[in-house]
Amino acid sequence: MTPPDGSIQDGLIDTAKRVLPGGTFGNLPGDVVIREGRGARVWDEDGREYVDFLLGSGPMLVGHAHPEVTAAAQARVAQGTTFFANNRWGIELAEAIVAAVPCAEQVRFVSTGSEADLYAMRAARAYTGRDKILKFEGGYHGMSDYSLMSLAPKRSANFPVAVPDSAGIPKSLRDEMVIAPFNNADTVESLVKEHRDELAAIIVEPFQRIIPPQPGFLKALRRITAENGILLIFDEVVTGFRLAYGGAQEYYGVEPDLCTLGKVIGGGFPLAAIAGKTGIMQHFNRDAVGEDRFLMQIGTLSGNPVAAAAGIATLEILRRPGAYEQIHATGRELMATLRQLLAEAGLKAQVIGEPPLFDVVFAPDPITDYRGMLKADTALMRRFNGLLRERGILKGEQKYYVSLAHTEDDVRFTREAWASAIKVLAS
Ligand SMILES: Cc1ncc(COP(=O)(O)O)c(C=O)c1O
Repeated sequence: MTPPDGSIQDGLIDTAKRVLPGGTFGNLPGDVVIREGRGARVWDEDGREYVDFLLGSGPMLVGHAHPEVTAAAQARVAQGTTFFANNRWGIELAEAIVAAVPCAEQVRFVSTGSEADLYAMRAARAYTGRDKILKFEGGYHGMSDYSLMSLAPKRSANFPVAVPDSAGIPKSLRDEMVIAPFNNADTVESLVKEHRDELAAIIVEPFQRIIPPQPGFLKALRRITAENGILLIFDEVVTGFRLAYGGAQEYYGVEPDLCTLGKVIGGGFPLAAIAGKTGIMQHFNRDAVGEDRFLMQIGTLSGNPVAAAAGIATLEILRRPGAYEQIHATGRELMATLRQLLAEAGLKAQVIGEPPLFDVVFAPDPITDYRGMLKADTALMRRFNGLLRERGILKGEQKYYVSLAHTEDDVRFTREAWASAIKVLAS
């Protein structure tokens, strides 16, 4: 529907408000409707162009509509889009994951990161015969009832009490989750000792949202879990194939027992995975572990050939010499530029993260955990993001995703947009 003033986007926004709760798919506010993307640029329905740091919330690490990824997906589409049965592309993608990711000996495909995290926790319970999972305050592991605990609590509870983040979560599940502060190994150690007979695993984003692990933190988690006979799960839905080809476990040099993957491995299509040691992954195999210890898991689109082919093409591009050096160099330049512009304007801010994924936090002190993030000026952040949108920068609320497709021109454009927006903020 095109309104009288001719804005296609406004017409779609009106329709969305009628047919979608809140006028959105739930991910971003519905005030922008994206029509297409190419490389590191996207265009809205009225043809406005943006430098894209959203990257579809992360999957488009090699850029939108990469010709090789597009060709790989199109070839599969022409030959049938889903079979439920095993297919060559799913098998070959699993082989590529096993070759790349240190902890991955076997792989089970699902369609979303939320499912992957749910099944990774279930696998830990099946393997250990215990129920509880320790997660970190502020850590995101998708939308399951178990994961949506203490992701973004408005009021802090005493550790290790879990605070459900959503209506509709059974109260009884709170007791199945043990909550700890990120980057605080001493607290983790004492909680694990206290609950060791009940704990199946620790699940952690090795790089939590945009907060890097403090030196030694992930190694401490590895030691504590090993000493107490519980599993360590890295949620690598974001970090997998992004921080390095082998993910955060390669980048930070700590190997978990299980990990979850998503985003990049589907090449922009719905595909995610649980990967890990064979002894644990065998719980997905009834013949290996027997009826009582078998972990039930089925999904209509699991190992979908179009998604798997797009994932394989994406990984092939990322394996080329210089790919990660380029992503990191672009990210380093962007982080340094933003830091400098904010400092010159006298704004109290931290630019935190790793080069492929970072953002500014308007807070005076260094940030190491969720409670540190709570001290940030979020109104200022929203204003900055709004000013940047007006200046042709598309990003999420609290993340710049950097891609292989971002060019020097994109960096220049971004610097100008930052400089202009910061001038307004500082005035
Ligand atoms: C660390 C992490 N885990 C899990 C998920 C859930 O993945 P999905 O949105 O595919 O369900 C996300 C999504 O952003 C994520 O960032």
